[in-house]
Amino acid sequence: MSRITTPFGATSTAAEVVDGVDLTGRRAVVTGGASGIGIETARALASAGAEVTLAVRDPAAGERTADDLIAATGNKQILLAPLDLADRASVEAFTAAWDGPLHILVGNAGVMAAPLTRTAEGWELQFATNHLGHFRLATGLHGALAAAGGARVVSVSSAAHLRSPVVFDDIMFQNRAYDPWTAYGQSKTANVLFAVEATRRWAGHGIRVNALHPGGIRTNLQRHVTDEELERMRRTSGGSATPRWKTPEQGAATSVLLAASPLVEGVGGRYFEDCNEAAPNRPGERTGVAAYALDPDAARRLWRESLRLTA
Ligand SMILES: NC(=O)c1ccc[n+]([C@@H]2O[C@H](COP(=O)([O-])OP(=O)(O)OC[C@H]3O[C@@H](n4cnc5c(N)ncnc54)[C@H](OP(=O)(O)O)[C@@H]3O)[C@@H](O)[C@H]2O)c1
Repeated sequence: MSRITTPFGATSTAAEVVDGVDLTGRRAVVTGGASGIGIETARALASAGAEVTLAVRDPAAGERTADDLIAATGNKQILLAPLDLADRASVEAFTAAWDGPLHILVGNAGVMAAPLTRTAEGWELQFATNHLGHFRLATGLHGALAAAGGARVVSVSSAAHLRSPVVFDDIMFQNRAYDPWTAYGQSKTANVLFAVEATRRWAGHGIRVNALHPGGIRTNLQRHVTDEELERMRRTSGGSATPRWKTPEQGAATSVLLAASPLVEGVGGRYFEDCNEAAPNRPGERTGVAAYALDPDAARRLWRESLRLTA
């Protein structure tokens, strides 16, 4: 399989990627759509004419964002729905309330490097939020995605996936010391594996799922991390070869490419960074995709395990 390349790159913005794309009549959901990259993803999709539902856990931030985006894009079809990915009842309520087809689902919300926190089920919070919540959301919306006839699901991962595979023997850190970056990395590998297995299962239903690293962007994501720690992490781990912050508009570009661009029509099960499919990671490098994140056997196993956990 040849690697997908596009004319876009690290400095491209979401607006540039969606320029000339008409999403009129398409319906999109952006999780975490009231902060950081999510706002810019929603803005680009709305500016191309899509109906965009911001799926958020902070209604006040959601309302502010929706008002801003309506004013900025002139698109009044910007809707709000409550969603807490770490709360199963909230995810079920969202999927139960969804009516009609869904053309674009961007699983963008995430939490990074949080201190050890467990959900009501005892699940480690980053895995529960970043992977299991989105897994339940996407599988719960499967009928709506299939009904769209050519839906796209975007799984926002991170170069931090290079920090850890999914450790199936102890996903929830019951028997190993908790490390916030390992837990984040594991959850972000799960985001890639989800794209691999969901595409295998759902391509026949017209649904394509891809994963991506957005780049390094200063947002609320870094709330659990001091500036010193952040700089240390950026020197020693994934991000980009030349550590340079992207703007949120640049950070949303790869999500928007995968959600809406005709350049990736029919593409699924792959991992992108800087608006192009990533090369395999090479030892010692901080870019590219880890082989374990694209491993079809691990992807199948994760799907089974996610079903078991959330059953
Ligand atoms: N920024 C970067 O450098 C970078 C790099 C690699 C990957 N990423 C990925 O990009 C995505 C977006 O991150 P960002 O930088 O835009 O961060 P952000 O500004 O912190 O946005 C993350 C969003 O996720 C939401 N969220 C967190 N936990 C949630 C939950 N349990 N239920 C529902 N929503 C929840 C947050 O809601 P609240 O506002 O209510 O907390 C927020 O809206 C994340 O998946 C992140 O892992 C970012």
